[in-house]
Amino acid sequence: MAPVLLVYAHPYPSRSRANRAMLEAVADLEAIAVRSLYDLYPDFGIDVEAEQEALAAAQIVVWQHPLYWYSVPGLLKHWFDKVLVRGFAFGEGGTQLRGKRCLWVTTTGGDEQAFSEPGIHAHPMSAFTPPVHQAARFCGMTWEEPFVLHGAHKIDAAALASEVKRYRRRMESLAREAQK
Ligand SMILES: Cc1cc2nc3c(=O)[nH]c(=O)nc-3n(C[C@H](O)[C@H](O)[C@H](O)COP(=O)(O)O)c2cc1C
Repeated sequence: MAPVLLVYAHPYPSRSRANRAMLEAVADLEAIAVRSLYDLYPDFGIDVEAEQEALAAAQIVVWQHPLYWYSVPGLLKHWFDKVLVRGFAFGEGGTQLRGKRCLWVTTTGGDEQAFSEPGIHAHPMSAFTPPVHQAARFCGMTWEEPFVLHGAHKIDAAALASEVKRYRRRMESLAREAQK
């Protein structure tokens, strides 16, 4: 069983620029198992048991997606609702995620300037983190410093390649730590 579970939620995987490049850059890492939610569940019919089994087997959980309306895409929200349930993720007997590390990986259309008080999104990126952070915390997971790629449409090919490398390094180091 791969120690790192990467839950991938891109509504249009074949149209992605940033997330696709990032995912492809880590696809060969044996320590990582990818579950692409929109490929697995195009009709939102999540196999809760399979998802919980994959989570229980992992040491590190990664949520990767483009930022949609300052949050996660609809299917990942639905996945939270159906999979992270009482008795599994929290509440009595809900200890399956306790102690696992959680990494939030997201890409944004807005650049860094957009995520500032005078910018179009009016708040720093850290203002949009709490719901995801707290969901992980509520399930007893340890929060890692999020990986954010800003300006996903605007950045040129060289800058994207450098971000993709940064992502690969981050995932390699997580994978190494998980295998220890
Ligand atoms: C429905 C929708 C909502 C979006 N909401 C935001 C947002 O709140 N903030 C932002 O910076 N970008 C937003 N975007 C832009 C996406 O985050 C951007 O297209 C994505 O990160 C690009 O990644 P990709 O190349 O993997 O598709 C939104 C895009 C769509 C389609």
